[in-house]
Amino acid sequence: MGEGVTETRKEMSSLVFAVNGQRFELSNVDPSTTLLEFLRSQTPFKSVKLSCGEGGCGACVVLLSKYDPVLDQVEDFTVSSCLTLLCSVNGCSITTAEGVGNSKGGFHPIQERFAGFHASQCGFCTPGMCVSFFSALVNADKTNRPEPRPGFSKLTVSEAEKAIAGNLCRCTGYRPIADACKSFAADVDMEDLGLNSFWKKGESDEVKLSRLPSYNNCTANSKFPEFLKMEIRAGAGLVSEGHRWYGPTSVEQLQSLLEMDEDNGGTSMKIVVGNTGTGYYKELRCYERYIDLKYIPELSIIRKDQTGIEIGAAVTISRAIKALREENEYEFHRGQMVFKRIADHMEKIATAFVRNSGSVGGNLIMAQRKQFPSDIATILLSVGTLVNIMTGQKLEKLTLEEFLEMPPLHSKSVLLSIKIPCWESRNKDTSSETDTKLLFETYRASPRPLGNALPYLNAAFLAEISLCSNSTGFMLNNCQLAFGAYGTKHSIKATKVEEFLTGKVLSVGVLYDAIKFLGTTITPEDGISSPAYRSSLVVGFLFEFLSPLIDTPAEISNGWLTGYNCAKWFIDSKLKQNNGQFDEIKLPTLLSSAKQVIQSSKEYHPVGEAIPKTGAAIQASGEAVYVDDIPSPSNCLHGAFIYSTEPLARLKGIKFNPGWSPDGVAALITVKDIPGENVGCVTVFGNEPLYADEVAQCAGDRIAFVVADTQKHADLAANLAVIDYDKENLEPPILSVEEAVERCSFLEVPSLLCPEQVGDFSKGMAEADHQILSAKLKLGSQYYFYMETQTALAVPDEDNCIVVYTSNQSPEFTHDTIAKCLGIPGHNVRVIMRRVGGGFGGKAIKSIPVATACALAAYKLQRPVRIYMNRKTDMIMAGGRHPMKITYSVGFKSNGKITALKLDILIDAGVYPDVSIIMPKAMVGTLKKYDWGALSFDIKLCKTNLPSRSAMRAPGEVQASFITEAIIEHVASTLSIDVDSVRNINLHTYNSLEFFYKSNAGEPFEYTLPSIWDKLATSSSFYNRTEMIKEFNRSNKWRKRGISRVPTVHEVVVSPNPGKVSILRDGSIVVEVGGVELGQGLWTKVKQMTAYGLSLIQCGGTDELVEKVRVIQADTLSLIQGGMTSGSTTSESSCEAVRLCCNVLVERLTALRERLLKQMGSIEWETLIMQAYMNSVNLSASSLFIPGISSRAYLNYGAAVSEVEINLLTGETTILQTDLIYDCGQSLNPAVDLGQIEGAYVQGIGFFMLEEYPTNSDGLVISKGTWTYKIPTVDTIPRQFNVEILNSGHHQNRVLSSKAVGMDRVRKQGVLWGPRPPTTQT
Ligand SMILES: Cc1cc2nc3c(=O)[nH]c(=O)nc-3n(C[C@H](O)[C@H](O)[C@H](O)COP(=O)(O)OP(=O)(O)OC[C@H]3O[C@@H](n4cnc5c(N)ncnc54)[C@H](O)[C@@H]3O)c2cc1C
Ligand code: FES
Ligand code: FES
Repeated sequence: MGEGVTETRKEMSSLVFAVNGQRFELSNVDPSTTLLEFLRSQTPFKSVKLSCGEGGCGACVVLLSKYDPVLDQVEDFTVSSCLTLLCSVNGCSITTAEGVGNSKGGFHPIQERFAGFHASQCGFCTPGMCVSFFSALVNADKTNRPEPRPGFSKLTVSEAEKAIAGNLCRCTGYRPIADACKSFAADVDMEDLGLNSFWKKGESDEVKLSRLPSYNNCTANSKFPEFLKMEIRAGAGLVSEGHRWYGPTSVEQLQSLLEMDEDNGGTSMKIVVGNTGTGYYKELRCYERYIDLKYIPELSIIRKDQTGIEIGAAVTISRAIKALREENEYEFHRGQMVFKRIADHMEKIATAFVRNSGSVGGNLIMAQRKQFPSDIATILLSVGTLVNIMTGQKLEKLTLEEFLEMPPLHSKSVLLSIKIPCWESRNKDTSSETDTKLLFETYRASPRPLGNALPYLNAAFLAEISLCSNSTGFMLNNCQLAFGAYGTKHSIKATKVEEFLTGKVLSVGVLYDAIKFLGTTITPEDGISSPAYRSSLVVGFLFEFLSPLIDTPAEISNGWLTGYNCAKWFIDSKLKQNNGQFDEIKLPTLLSSAKQVIQSSKEYHPVGEAIPKTGAAIQASGEAVYVDDIPSPSNCLHGAFIYSTEPLARLKGIKFNPGWSPDGVAALITVKDIPGENVGCVTVFGNEPLYADEVAQCAGDRIAFVVADTQKHADLAANLAVIDYDKENLEPPILSVEEAVERCSFLEVPSLLCPEQVGDFSKGMAEADHQILSAKLKLGSQYYFYMETQTALAVPDEDNCIVVYTSNQSPEFTHDTIAKCLGIPGHNVRVIMRRVGGGFGGKAIKSIPVATACALAAYKLQRPVRIYMNRKTDMIMAGGRHPMKITYSVGFKSNGKITALKLDILIDAGVYPDVSIIMPKAMVGTLKKYDWGALSFDIKLCKTNLPSRSAMRAPGEVQASFITEAIIEHVASTLSIDVDSVRNINLHTYNSLEFFYKSNAGEPFEYTLPSIWDKLATSSSFYNRTEMIKEFNRSNKWRKRGISRVPTVHEVVVSPNPGKVSILRDGSIVVEVGGVELGQGLWTKVKQMTAYGLSLIQCGGTDELVEKVRVIQADTLSLIQGGMTSGSTTSESSCEAVRLCCNVLVERLTALRERLLKQMGSIEWETLIMQAYMNSVNLSASSLFIPGISSRAYLNYGAAVSEVEINLLTGETTILQTDLIYDCGQSLNPAVDLGQIEGAYVQGIGFFMLEEYPTNSDGLVISKGTWTYKIPTVDTIPRQFNVEILNSGHHQNRVLSSKAVGMDRVRKQGVLWGPRPPTTQT
């Protein structure tokens, strides 16, 4: 080892850093420890959430601040703490959401505005969002931009939106989050900001600003602690050493370290910079030593001269972007534009918090060694980049092409730097200033425009062109065409096509031949997803690059051709002309102002008011406690599931991978350890086993539970488990609905849940002028992607009891299951459920076995046991939405009036019943939304050897809505008539509604759909826009737009629910309800209802009662019969239960109130309660709300119009505008309901346009996380999203006239676009 290394190591034997201003000094750190692991397990700061563990979601984002003692400057940037290694933060200050602001020291205005703009629902994403935005704010306000208006920051609206573009939220639909962020922007128009609790419509900008939690841009800073600055100045240095972690400060030291490693066989050390590569290549092995390259000056340089720009391999992508954008003293002039274009492309790589720590060199090494589908490799390849490599003492300079093509780099080789040549200067001598121009453009097609998604294909094209002497065309003097990420070993240059094009005058024929040639050169390798789409992109991108030069060369030569980016710029200019007022695509902001129309009501104050969600501020500061945030009791163990990878196989045994001995394993729990019944789930729908007994029934079936000292060890051990299977003499598994039909494998639906056919199908078909027979449709599955995965903590208690904390939509069923499995009476079990980090139905049933497995392990080992499932296992076991195959026959008249519809639906229910038996009824409830004349159906629940499917937001209804709209579209296209007219003619009259829905149709005045339908046409200018779109499509060859208006009718069923209200001596009120808070705002509505209910006592101070109410966690021993929180009606039934309690309490208090009033003239709430205590009035009441026959079921209505644009060359799809009206009756809280509407709609966009949940041929889920499972992000939602909540007045049978809007109801309106077309960004 080099001397210098030894010396530095002596100086620094411990790690010193600050978290939220608190000093931490650590020694003996395992160098593989991530910052997230440390923060969550060894500090009180639990706001850093683990959601994906691979850099893909932003839940774990922290602000990392570095102090430069020479410049006396602090650099602040975000990183994902799940990938950042703890040892790399030596000398840094870390700020988590609690450090940004908190309930004790005061919330930051970001957090207060998130609450006030209704931007937090389940809250699991919110701390990460706030930190991402805080970083953007701090950095913008450090710039020397002009001072903003008082109360605003220097940030722009566009930057505010982009600041949160890498963070995922599954609940809100992003619009309110974007609004909260935009409220800080210097250039924001206050009119554009959406619904919030700060101001009322129509107030002046000054008043609005005065109502916002104030922000002072002068005080914005990350507060780097002085003590740490002093330590750094005193020479503690920034270099981390010790703990098997090396930070060499010179190339020589690095060489010595690598030689040392070579003595050990070259495998014990790992070079790291940002460690973000582990997000993709999950490393199971631990290294003995780590070498951090950040401190070697040669690897961190950025040097510009006339020949180009040299970038050290350890330079982060963010720094590289900044350097490439900076104007420089050499005045490259147009040469600078190539760099800027590269920077623009780099900005779409990953997310800001990955780019801030991920290095350019790390990216290229991943591409070279491991075939990572890199963007950097492709774009740098096209501009002739050079690389400098060091192997031992040997230094080598290669072209990037040579570097990528050579065998994987040896582990002792180091990439030192890259050099991007300056094209302008290089070509100056050879090209004439007047007629030779350089074009450079980069492309990437990915599911998300702003990045945070690997590309299906990326490309970069550079071309020198000159105008032919007769001005009839362009000559290609030189061209470089690079492609990558399309399922190839590494990025490549299409050399033969380049040669073909060079020297040619561009013409349609030349381009056609080039494209044909390209198609045979760039071909995706076998096994890659969407190969045909990728191949079409190859062609589309080249066409997009070159075709403008062919179409109108004269026009271009007459002044369009201004230099770089000419082709794309030309296209954009053309587009702008054609778009007229519709063109918003190229506006720099992602979203344009959206309208939210609500009608608050004072009738039942405070019910009906748009008050912020309870607990939103503590969710934003990260102080809200989720199950995994509960500190581990001493002696706590952690569990992980071992699941089957075979669909149907006998289990002979489990052992651990020989040669890999798992650390810390305490026990392996299997079916043999169950003292009671082998049940993982006991519900009214049916039971399922906890662990496979002898035979595993599907891939993903639970086989055992490995328990270890940490979650990491438990997960590693589960990964190392090898299951010995035996398939002899077993029937082949059923892996499709067709096989299930062949083998008559079905789940039986109880007659009570069997929907009824409507009318006479044969008669309807006979009346038809046209028929479509046996047409087919197919729908896939969807994963919940709740940000918080399944989790539970079980703690054994005295006298054979057990307490289980769980993230769960069904505490009651969980309670019953645990008692049965453990073989103990129900009163020995206590299930506690406070907060869920997203459910969407995925925690209705699937959370029960998770809690039961923990309870069983804890019971057996008599030690606390917890689990926080990793994303991969969660995805494998979740089951998700029901996939199905549909065959339909439909008869219709020539004017589009449908006379009869018949559906044969095969639903893949999976292996266990779960909630599948509700599917037929749920589907038919929505299938009836049109007047089909007659509706006949045969819905089969196919029992397969696939994971059981569960309820997912609007189960069955989403699919049914898609089916109905597909049929309507089919009829319209068969008749070649406008689809909206087919919808119109088939909308129900009240009579047909009653015919289809019987008594659930309600009174005629309650049928609000026709008025919603017309109102929406007016508010969205539907007919006008339809005409304009026709014009747009006529004048645009490659971009097409469509507009569609879709109705929804939903049959709501209200379930019973308990409630309990207790008034404490000080007048504060505590409430329990059966429903659980999933982020849907149930607690907020319950609070409002309690305040309203008790205010009927009519005494002083009841106006502010809402502030005195606290709704507390569900506790199955305190309040029984909680049932399941699902179906969107739990809020209203919980509210009704509470109202009943309040009525009882008011009645009990009335006599006393009247007596006191007589004595005192007036009476305040506190006094009344004090007196009630003294008079022994019973101040606790409980109730069970049971809906009566007339109020048990009703219909909900809504409609939406959406306008979508598709780029035919690339598949890029943009939702330009959505207008939606939803009938909420008299909303209990319009802000909460609006959040549900927008969130549900965006989840629908995910299902139909983005999310894919594929399995292998055995049914094992192969999409294992954020790399492949793409939920919507802020850049994929409608650019303009206008929502109106219709107050349809009094409904006698509803809870205070309200109607359900919840986790389920609106997403089915997002069905208008058919099966997911990929979206792209170029
Ligand atoms: C969520 C996410 C999304 C992403 N999306 C994209 C994308 O869309 N497009 C894209 O191109 N990339 C993408 N990336 C990849 C990202 O750019 C790389 O992870 C990052 O650049 C790697 O840099 P690092 O410093 O973190 O490397 P590390 O993780 O520290 O190292 C990566 C590997 O390279 C080795 N190594 C690092 N530097 C050197 C060196 N100088 N010499 C020799 N070996 C070295 C390490 O030993 C390790 O094996 C994404 C990454 C994440 C986490
Ligand atoms: S948990 Fe770190 S980015 Fe998702
Ligand atoms: S509020 Fe964003 S994930 Fe729930």
